Amino acid sequence: MAKDLVYTSFEIVAEKAGDISLAVYKNYFARCPGSKELMTHVDDIVRGRMLDEVYRLMMNEDYSDEESYLNFEVKNHRLAYSVKPDMYGNLLEALKDVIAESLGAEWNDAYELAWQSRIDLFIKEIQNRH
Ligand code: HEM
Repeated sequence: MAKDLVYTSFEIVAEKAGDISLAVYKNYFARCPGSKELMTHVDDIVRGRMLDEVYRLMMNEDYSDEESYLNFEVKNHRLAYSVKPDMYGNLLEALKDVIAESLGAEWNDAYELAWQSRIDLFIKEIQNRH
């Protein structure tokens, strides 16, 4: 089976840019109204752990093994942290942006398509639970 391009892009970013979490949150807060306020009390360690889970989920090509994890986190994010459904898409677009920037000239339509379809797939999982 061909290697997943989303996975490949993470590998390249790890080599080229190292830890991208600060850049992802910067991009995210700039594009998503209300998100910064929701996360002001959250320190860098927890922010980092959250993104580790987001990376793990984005590298996943199938969410059937993630049912209970997603049920728990989506409910928790909605009820305990007041996260709105559109905040997920914004976070993933911010991540895609930072990865595209890190890849620079290596980023192409195939990466764009792979990322867009992964985001679409994941957002369907979120919408089913909101
Ligand atoms: C793919 C989507 C997401 C996943 C998998 C995810 C996962 C997580 C995890 C695992 C934690 C706990 C980290 C820890 O304590 O170890 C967390 C915390 C948090 N997340 Fe997310 N998250 C997602 C999206 C979002 C979005 C879109 C927002 C909106 C701003 C958000 C806001 C928060 C907040 C505010 C906390 C900290 C809660 C607290 O400890 O008070 N998350 N997230």
